[in-house]
Amino acid sequence: MIRAQWHAKRGSAMAILGIESSAHTFGVGIVNDGAILANALNRYKLSGSGMIPSKVADFHATKVSDTINAALKSAKLGLGDVEAIGYTKGPGLGACLRIGELAAKALALRYSLPIFPVNHAVGHVEIATQLAHFHDPLALYVSGGNSQILAMVGAPYKHYNVYGETLDIGIGNMLDNFARGLKLVPAWGSSVERLAAGGKYLQLPYTVKGMDFAFTGLLTHSMRLAESGVPRRDLAFSLQQTSFAMLCEATERAMMLTGKRQLILCGGVAQNGVLQHALKSLCDSHSAEFFVAQAEYNGDNGAMIALVAEKMLNSSTKHYPIDECGISQRYRIDDVRVTW
Ligand code: FE2
Repeated sequence: MIRAQWHAKRGSAMAILGIESSAHTFGVGIVNDGAILANALNRYKLSGSGMIPSKVADFHATKVSDTINAALKSAKLGLGDVEAIGYTKGPGLGACLRIGELAAKALALRYSLPIFPVNHAVGHVEIATQLAHFHDPLALYVSGGNSQILAMVGAPYKHYNVYGETLDIGIGNMLDNFARGLKLVPAWGSSVERLAAGGKYLQLPYTVKGMDFAFTGLLTHSMRLAESGVPRRDLAFSLQQTSFAMLCEATERAMMLTGKRQLILCGGVAQNGVLQHALKSLCDSHSAEFFVAQAEYNGDNGAMIALVAEKMLNSSTKHYPIDECGISQRYRIDDVRVTW
C-alpha cells in the first residue's frame, strides 16, 4: 500500500536498499521484486583477540560510502532509483548496529524515503527460503551468536516460532573459542573444519534437552583435554561430530513435531561441509528436501536485509516513524510480527 502511494508520487523508483552491520560485516544489498541486484560488502578482519565492538564500528564507519557506491554501481542504479531503505535493527553488537542505523536514517532523510528496521535472523531465514524456492520450511539457523530451530506459525499472530535454541552460546562462538584456544588462524570455523579432517572420535559432553541444546560444557571439556595433550585433530573432529549430532537430534525432533518436509540451513556456520552432510543425510532418511545457500548468502549480507525490507514495504499499511526506528541488541526473531 505504501509502495503504491510512492509509485504514484515518484513514478520510476525501482529498488530497495538494505544495510547490514550487526557484527564484522558492513553490507549493502539492493533488490527489486525479490531479485538480488547487488550484494556489496566489506568485512572486518578478525585477529586473535576477536571482535572489539568499538573497533569494528570504526571500521564500518569508514566503509559506509564505499559499500553503498559499490552496490549502486553493481546494480547500475543511482540513489534516485531507491524507493525504500532497510537496515538491521538487531540482534547484534550495539556500536556496529548504530553505524548501519545512522547510515540508513541519513539516506531516508536526504531522499525522503520510507525506512524499515529488519530483524537479522529473519533476513537469514528469508533469503535462504527464497533461494531454495521452498514454501514454509523448517530452518536451522546457526551463527556466532545464535543457534535456533525456526518455523513460521500463524497464531496468536504470524511470526517465526523458536522450536529449539541454544541454552548458552551460539555454535559459532563455541567453534571460535575452541579455535582461539588452540591458536588457530581466522576464519576460525574453517580452521576447525580443516583441522578435524582425518581425526578420531572421542566421547565428549552431549547436551540436548527436548529441542534445546547447550555448548559450554562441551567447549570447557574440550579445552581441558587440549591442555592435557590430547591430539588437537581428534578434539576438533570430535567437537564437530558431537555438536553437529546435537543439532541434528534437535532438528529431527522439530521435523517430527511440525511435520515439515523441507529444511533450510542458514547463517555463518551453514558453510561447514560436515554439518551440511549430516543434515542432508537426516533429510534423506525422512524423504525431506534440504537446502543450503551459496556462501555469499550464508554469511552476513545486505541483500537479505533488502529482501525483508521489500516484503515489509509491500505488506505494510503504515510508515515506521524515523525517530522510532532504533536498534535492539537482543531483538529476538519471535518478537517480529510478520506482515507478509
Ligand atoms: Fe548473521
